[in-house]
Amino acid sequence: MIKDLQEQIIKLKQEKDFYILAHSYQAKEIVEVADFTGDSFQLSLAAQKVPNKNILLCGVHFMAETVKMLSPEKNVYLANPIAGCPMAEQLEPEMIEYLKKQNPDYTVVAYINTTANLKSVSDVCVTSSSAVKIVNNIENNNILFIPDCNLGDYISKQLPHKNIKLVQGGCPVHAAVTEQDIINAKAAHPNAKALVHPECTPAVLKHADYIGSTSGIVEYAMKSDCREFIIGTEMSIAEHLQYACPEKDFYILSKKILCPNMKLTTLVDVFKTLNGTGGLEIQMSDETIAKARVCVDEMIRLGK
Ligand code: 13P
Ligand code: SF4
Repeated sequence: MIKDLQEQIIKLKQEKDFYILAHSYQAKEIVEVADFTGDSFQLSLAAQKVPNKNILLCGVHFMAETVKMLSPEKNVYLANPIAGCPMAEQLEPEMIEYLKKQNPDYTVVAYINTTANLKSVSDVCVTSSSAVKIVNNIENNNILFIPDCNLGDYISKQLPHKNIKLVQGGCPVHAAVTEQDIINAKAAHPNAKALVHPECTPAVLKHADYIGSTSGIVEYAMKSDCREFIIGTEMSIAEHLQYACPEKDFYILSKKILCPNMKLTTLVDVFKTLNGTGGLEIQMSDETIAKARVCVDEMIRLGK
Protein backbone atom coordinates (compact mmCIF):
# COMPACT_ATOMS: atom_id res chain seq x y z
CA MET A 1 0.00 0.00 0.00
CA ILE A 2 2.72 2.52 1.03
CA LYS A 3 4.91 1.47 -1.92
CA ASP A 4 1.95 1.89 -4.35
CA LEU A 5 1.21 5.36 -3.05
CA GLN A 6 4.89 6.31 -3.21
CA GLU A 7 5.08 5.16 -6.83
CA GLN A 8 1.99 7.23 -7.73
CA ILE A 9 3.53 10.25 -5.97
CA ILE A 10 6.81 9.91 -7.89
CA LYS A 11 4.86 9.70 -11.18
CA LEU A 12 2.67 12.71 -10.30
CA LYS A 13 5.72 14.76 -9.30
CA GLN A 14 7.09 14.44 -12.82
CA GLU A 15 3.75 14.98 -14.58
CA LYS A 16 2.89 18.10 -12.56
CA ASP A 17 6.44 19.50 -12.34
CA PHE A 18 6.68 19.40 -8.52
CA TYR A 19 9.75 19.41 -6.27
CA ILE A 20 9.24 18.05 -2.75
CA LEU A 21 11.11 19.58 0.21
CA ALA A 22 10.81 17.74 3.54
CA HIS A 23 12.00 18.78 7.00
CA SER A 24 14.08 16.07 8.70
CA TYR A 25 11.34 15.57 11.33
CA GLN A 26 9.02 14.10 8.68
CA ALA A 27 8.19 10.39 8.62
CA LYS A 28 10.39 7.93 6.73
CA GLU A 29 7.82 7.24 3.99
CA ILE A 30 7.69 10.99 3.21
CA VAL A 31 11.47 11.46 3.29
CA GLU A 32 11.68 8.59 0.75
CA VAL A 33 9.63 10.50 -1.86
CA ALA A 34 11.20 13.92 -1.16
CA ASP A 35 13.72 15.47 -3.55
CA PHE A 36 15.52 17.12 -0.65
CA THR A 37 15.38 16.58 3.11
CA GLY A 38 17.14 18.78 5.65
CA ASP A 39 16.91 21.06 8.65
CA SER A 40 15.53 24.60 8.49
CA PHE A 41 18.73 26.22 7.17
CA GLN A 42 19.35 23.53 4.56
CA LEU A 43 15.73 23.81 3.36
CA SER A 44 16.13 27.60 2.91
CA LEU A 45 19.25 27.11 0.80
CA ALA A 46 17.66 24.31 -1.24
CA ALA A 47 14.49 26.38 -1.85
CA GLN A 48 16.49 28.93 -3.85
CA LYS A 49 17.76 26.34 -6.31
CA VAL A 50 14.57 24.43 -7.18
CA PRO A 51 14.26 24.07 -10.97
CA ASN A 52 10.54 23.12 -10.97
CA LYS A 53 7.46 25.36 -11.26
CA ASN A 54 5.79 23.96 -8.13
CA ILE A 55 7.21 23.27 -4.66
CA LEU A 56 5.56 21.09 -2.02
CA LEU A 57 6.81 21.59 1.55
CA CYS A 58 6.31 18.77 4.04
CA GLY A 59 6.79 20.34 7.46
CA VAL A 60 5.09 23.30 9.15
CA HIS A 61 3.58 26.56 7.89
CA PHE A 62 6.46 29.00 8.54
CA MET A 63 8.75 26.76 6.46
CA ALA A 64 6.42 26.95 3.44
CA GLU A 65 6.18 30.73 3.94
CA THR A 66 9.98 30.99 3.93
CA VAL A 67 10.15 28.96 0.71
CA LYS A 68 7.57 31.28 -0.89
CA MET A 69 9.63 34.33 0.15
CA LEU A 70 12.74 32.85 -1.41
CA SER A 71 10.96 31.72 -4.59
CA PRO A 72 8.02 34.11 -5.02
CA GLU A 73 7.60 33.22 -8.70
CA LYS A 74 6.85 29.56 -7.84
CA ASN A 75 3.63 27.98 -6.62
CA VAL A 76 4.38 26.83 -3.09
CA TYR A 77 2.17 24.39 -1.18
CA LEU A 78 2.11 23.09 2.39
CA ALA A 79 1.11 19.41 2.39
CA ASN A 80 -1.05 19.57 5.52
CA PRO A 81 -2.93 22.89 5.80
CA ILE A 82 -3.15 22.88 9.62
CA ALA A 83 0.48 21.94 10.37
CA GLY A 84 1.83 24.99 12.20
CA CYS A 85 4.61 25.63 14.71
CA PRO A 86 3.21 27.01 18.00
CA MET A 87 6.48 28.88 18.67
CA ALA A 88 6.14 30.80 15.38
CA GLU A 89 2.99 32.51 16.64
CA GLN A 90 3.96 33.22 20.25
CA LEU A 91 4.70 36.93 19.70
CA GLU A 92 2.85 39.73 17.92
CA PRO A 93 4.66 42.20 15.60
CA GLU A 94 3.24 45.12 17.66
CA MET A 95 5.08 43.80 20.72
CA ILE A 96 8.38 43.74 18.82
CA GLU A 97 7.75 47.27 17.48
CA TYR A 98 7.25 48.37 21.10
CA LEU A 99 10.48 46.63 22.24
CA LYS A 100 12.37 48.23 19.34
CA LYS A 101 11.30 51.66 20.56
CA GLN A 102 12.48 50.79 24.09
CA ASN A 103 15.80 49.41 22.74
CA PRO A 104 16.63 51.56 19.71
CA ASP A 105 20.30 50.50 19.52
CA TYR A 106 19.52 46.75 19.40
CA THR A 107 19.50 44.50 16.32
CA VAL A 108 16.40 42.27 16.30
CA VAL A 109 17.34 38.67 15.54
CA ALA A 110 14.44 36.30 14.87
CA TYR A 111 14.60 32.53 14.95
CA ILE A 112 13.33 31.31 11.58
CA ASN A 113 10.41 29.68 13.46
CA THR A 114 8.40 32.92 13.22
CA THR A 115 5.55 34.14 11.01
CA ALA A 116 6.27 36.37 7.99
CA ASN A 117 4.73 39.29 9.93
CA LEU A 118 7.25 38.84 12.74
CA LYS A 119 10.09 38.55 10.22
CA SER A 120 8.90 41.85 8.71
CA VAL A 121 9.75 43.70 11.94
CA SER A 122 13.07 41.86 12.51
CA ASP A 123 16.53 42.65 11.12
CA VAL A 124 18.05 39.17 10.68
CA CYS A 125 16.81 35.59 10.84
CA VAL A 126 18.73 32.59 12.16
CA THR A 127 18.23 28.84 12.27
CA SER A 128 19.60 26.61 15.01
CA SER A 129 22.51 25.50 12.81
CA SER A 130 23.48 29.03 11.78
CA ALA A 131 22.59 31.06 14.89
CA VAL A 132 25.97 31.30 16.64
CA LYS A 133 27.81 32.14 13.40
CA ILE A 134 25.27 34.73 12.28
CA VAL A 135 24.96 36.49 15.66
CA ASN A 136 28.75 36.57 15.84
CA ASN A 137 28.89 38.11 12.34
CA ILE A 138 26.46 40.92 13.25
CA GLU A 139 28.46 44.11 13.83
CA ASN A 140 26.22 45.36 16.62
CA ASN A 141 26.87 43.66 19.99
CA ASN A 142 23.39 44.55 21.27
CA ILE A 143 20.98 41.83 20.22
CA LEU A 144 17.28 41.38 20.93
CA PHE A 145 16.61 37.69 20.28
CA ILE A 146 13.09 36.35 19.61
CA PRO A 147 11.27 34.03 20.38
CA ASP A 148 13.24 30.98 21.66
CA CYS A 149 14.81 31.75 25.05
CA ASN A 150 16.56 28.39 25.24
CA LEU A 151 18.30 28.87 21.90
CA GLY A 152 18.97 32.52 22.82
CA ASP A 153 20.53 31.49 26.14
CA TYR A 154 22.71 28.93 24.34
CA ILE A 155 23.89 31.57 21.83
CA SER A 156 24.70 34.07 24.58
CA LYS A 157 26.84 31.47 26.39
CA GLN A 158 28.77 30.81 23.15
CA LEU A 159 29.22 34.53 22.49
CA PRO A 160 29.85 36.19 25.88
CA HIS A 161 30.99 39.43 24.21
CA LYS A 162 27.46 39.97 22.88
CA ASN A 163 24.80 41.64 24.97
CA ILE A 164 21.77 39.46 24.23
CA LYS A 165 18.28 40.30 25.53
CA LEU A 166 15.72 37.49 25.38
CA VAL A 167 11.96 37.72 24.93
CA GLN A 168 9.85 35.00 26.50
CA GLY A 169 9.03 32.08 24.19
CA GLY A 170 10.21 28.70 23.01
CA CYS A 171 9.48 25.28 21.52
CA PRO A 172 6.97 23.49 23.77
CA VAL A 173 8.17 20.11 22.50
CA HIS A 174 11.89 20.45 23.27
CA ALA A 175 11.23 22.53 26.40
CA ALA A 176 9.12 19.70 27.85
CA VAL A 177 12.23 17.58 28.47
CA THR A 178 13.41 17.83 32.08
CA GLU A 179 16.84 17.57 33.67
CA GLN A 180 15.65 14.35 35.34
CA ASP A 181 14.81 12.92 31.87
CA ILE A 182 18.41 13.30 30.68
CA ILE A 183 19.81 12.04 34.00
CA ASN A 184 17.58 8.95 33.67
CA ALA A 185 18.48 8.40 30.00
CA LYS A 186 22.22 8.61 30.76
CA ALA A 187 21.83 6.22 33.70
CA ALA A 188 19.96 3.75 31.46
CA HIS A 189 22.60 4.00 28.69
CA PRO A 190 25.91 4.84 30.39
CA ASN A 191 27.99 4.28 27.22
CA ALA A 192 25.83 6.48 25.01
CA LYS A 193 26.70 10.02 23.95
CA ALA A 194 23.83 12.49 24.52
CA LEU A 195 23.29 14.69 21.46
CA VAL A 196 20.88 17.52 22.28
CA HIS A 197 19.14 20.33 20.36
CA PRO A 198 19.59 23.89 21.75
CA GLU A 199 15.79 24.31 21.90
CA CYS A 200 16.03 22.20 25.12
CA THR A 201 16.43 23.99 28.46
CA PRO A 202 19.86 25.00 29.85
CA ALA A 203 19.34 22.44 32.67
CA VAL A 204 19.14 19.67 30.04
CA LEU A 205 21.92 21.07 27.83
CA LYS A 206 24.42 21.02 30.68
CA HIS A 207 24.32 17.18 30.62
CA ALA A 208 24.77 16.95 26.83
CA ASP A 209 27.93 15.55 25.22
CA TYR A 210 27.14 17.49 22.05
CA ILE A 211 24.75 20.41 21.43
CA GLY A 212 23.66 21.09 17.87
CA SER A 213 20.91 21.57 15.32
CA THR A 214 19.13 18.65 13.70
CA SER A 215 21.73 18.42 10.92
CA GLY A 216 24.54 18.80 13.48
CA ILE A 217 23.17 15.89 15.53
CA VAL A 218 22.77 13.69 12.44
CA GLU A 219 26.29 14.47 11.22
CA TYR A 220 27.83 13.90 14.66
CA ALA A 221 26.12 10.50 15.05
CA MET A 222 27.03 9.34 11.54
CA LYS A 223 30.72 10.31 11.83
CA SER A 224 31.31 9.29 15.45
CA ASP A 225 33.18 6.08 16.33
CA CYS A 226 30.86 5.73 19.33
CA ARG A 227 28.17 3.01 19.03
CA GLU A 228 25.37 4.34 21.23
CA PHE A 229 23.56 7.69 21.24
CA ILE A 230 20.76 9.38 23.17
CA ILE A 231 18.97 11.65 20.70
CA GLY A 232 17.75 14.89 22.25
CA THR A 233 15.56 16.21 19.48
CA GLU A 234 12.32 15.21 17.74
CA MET A 235 12.14 11.43 17.98
CA SER A 236 11.92 10.89 14.20
CA ILE A 237 15.66 11.67 14.06
CA ALA A 238 16.46 8.62 16.22
CA GLU A 239 14.43 6.49 13.78
CA HIS A 240 16.08 7.94 10.65
CA LEU A 241 19.54 7.46 12.20
CA GLN A 242 18.71 3.88 13.19
CA TYR A 243 17.90 3.05 9.55
CA ALA A 244 21.00 4.88 8.29
CA CYS A 245 23.37 3.25 10.81
CA PRO A 246 21.99 -0.20 11.73
CA GLU A 247 25.26 -1.14 13.44
CA LYS A 248 24.76 1.64 16.04
CA ASP A 249 22.05 2.07 18.70
CA PHE A 250 19.91 5.19 19.05
CA TYR A 251 17.70 5.93 22.06
CA ILE A 252 15.17 8.76 22.38
CA LEU A 253 15.93 11.19 25.20
CA SER A 254 12.28 11.33 26.24
CA LYS A 255 8.90 10.17 24.91
CA LYS A 256 7.87 13.82 25.20
CA ILE A 257 9.96 14.97 22.22
CA LEU A 258 7.31 14.24 19.64
CA CYS A 259 6.12 17.24 17.63
CA PRO A 260 2.39 16.72 16.92
CA ASN A 261 2.49 19.33 14.17
CA MET A 262 5.37 17.70 12.32
CA LYS A 263 3.52 14.39 12.61
CA LEU A 264 0.33 15.74 10.97
CA THR A 265 1.60 15.31 7.41
CA THR A 266 0.83 11.94 5.84
CA LEU A 267 1.70 10.36 2.53
CA VAL A 268 -1.97 10.83 1.56
CA ASP A 269 -1.59 14.60 2.15
CA VAL A 270 1.37 14.57 -0.25
CA PHE A 271 -0.62 12.61 -2.85
CA LYS A 272 -3.67 14.88 -2.54
CA THR A 273 -1.60 18.06 -2.91
CA LEU A 274 0.00 16.72 -6.07
CA ASN A 275 -3.31 15.68 -7.63
CA GLY A 276 -4.91 19.03 -6.78
CA THR A 277 -7.40 17.84 -4.14
CA GLY A 278 -5.54 18.88 -0.99
CA GLY A 279 -2.74 20.92 0.52
CA LEU A 280 -2.60 24.66 1.04
CA GLU A 281 -1.22 27.05 -1.54
CA ILE A 282 0.81 29.76 0.22
CA GLN A 283 -0.52 33.21 -0.70
CA MET A 284 1.52 36.25 0.32
CA SER A 285 1.29 39.81 -0.94
CA ASP A 286 4.30 41.29 -2.74
CA GLU A 287 4.55 43.81 0.10
CA THR A 288 4.75 41.12 2.83
CA ILE A 289 7.30 39.15 0.82
CA ALA A 290 9.44 42.23 0.25
CA LYS A 291 9.37 43.21 3.94
CA ALA A 292 9.89 39.73 5.41
CA ARG A 293 12.51 38.67 2.90
CA VAL A 294 15.03 41.25 4.03
CA CYS A 295 15.84 39.33 7.20
CA VAL A 296 15.88 35.95 5.41
CA ASP A 297 18.33 37.33 2.81
CA GLU A 298 20.46 38.69 5.67
CA MET A 299 20.46 35.21 7.23
CA ILE A 300 21.76 33.67 4.01
CA ARG A 301 24.37 36.42 3.54
CA LEU A 302 25.70 36.29 7.13
CA GLY A 303 25.47 32.49 7.32
CA LYS A 304 27.80 31.83 4.37
P1 13P B 1 16.24 22.87 12.95
O1 13P B 1 15.60 22.35 11.74
O2 13P B 1 16.91 24.17 12.65
O3 13P B 1 17.14 21.93 13.66
O4 13P B 1 15.06 23.28 13.96
C1 13P B 1 14.37 22.33 14.67
C2 13P B 1 12.94 22.57 14.72
O5 13P B 1 12.33 22.49 15.75
C3 13P B 1 12.25 22.88 13.48
O6 13P B 1 10.95 23.20 13.72
FE1 SF4 C 1 7.79 24.12 16.33
FE2 SF4 C 1 9.10 22.73 18.19
FE3 SF4 C 1 7.53 21.45 16.46
FE4 SF4 C 1 9.84 22.52 15.65
S1 SF4 C 1 9.59 20.83 17.08
S2 SF4 C 1 7.83 22.67 14.62
S3 SF4 C 1 9.95 24.34 16.93
S4 SF4 C 1 6.87 22.94 18.00
